[in-house]
Amino acid sequence: MVTLTELFERNRGWAADMKARDPDFFLRLSQQQAPEYLWIGCSDSRVPATQIVDLLPGEIFVHRNIANLVVHSDLNCLSVLQFAVEVLQVKHIIVCGHYGCGGIKAALENQKHGLIDHWLQYIRDIYRNHQVVLESLMEEPARYRLLSEINVMEQVWNVCQSDFVQNAWGSGRGLSVHGWIYDISDGLLKDLDVTVSNRAESVAIRRRI
Ligand code: CO
Repeated sequence: MVTLTELFERNRGWAADMKARDPDFFLRLSQQQAPEYLWIGCSDSRVPATQIVDLLPGEIFVHRNIANLVVHSDLNCLSVLQFAVEVLQVKHIIVCGHYGCGGIKAALENQKHGLIDHWLQYIRDIYRNHQVVLESLMEEPARYRLLSEINVMEQVWNVCQSDFVQNAWGSGRGLSVHGWIYDISDGLLKDLDVTVSNRAESVAIRRRI
């Protein structure tokens, strides 16, 4: 039987370390979570939400999938979105993509990958809708980078179109949707400057994508 003993040892060390720094840390967290942020990011192991913005457990509600997609029929993502907006009442939703995304790259290859090809079809559709601008870039890496950015913007739009976000704006609640991209080669985040805080701004963003 394989038990991953090393990970349990690391866990005990981490918990002791956290407790040494803040004796009430776990007690406080066990009573409630009140994160201000919902993070929708890629499953890529190199893009751990809480760590790259240097926050602590309890501060970000997280949903991750391959290539950070927000699909209107994805019950998992929609449930996270609804819970975050209506129950936790987060103030910010961050869609974060990253350069060097395997999902983006795989979507543009002709190779078959099995089940995941159905998921990647959403990225192929985005590519088709932006084919002219993408193919005006001669270098493949630049094309991947731009597609990663456009993908984030499209997902920001999808978040804005959800009932939960529309209802929050309708009731006058302060809720912003942000589009960011992370560079795994230097650990830095870039704001794609597509922040939307109300219905009018979401229409303006649609025109820019
Ligand atoms: Co990725």
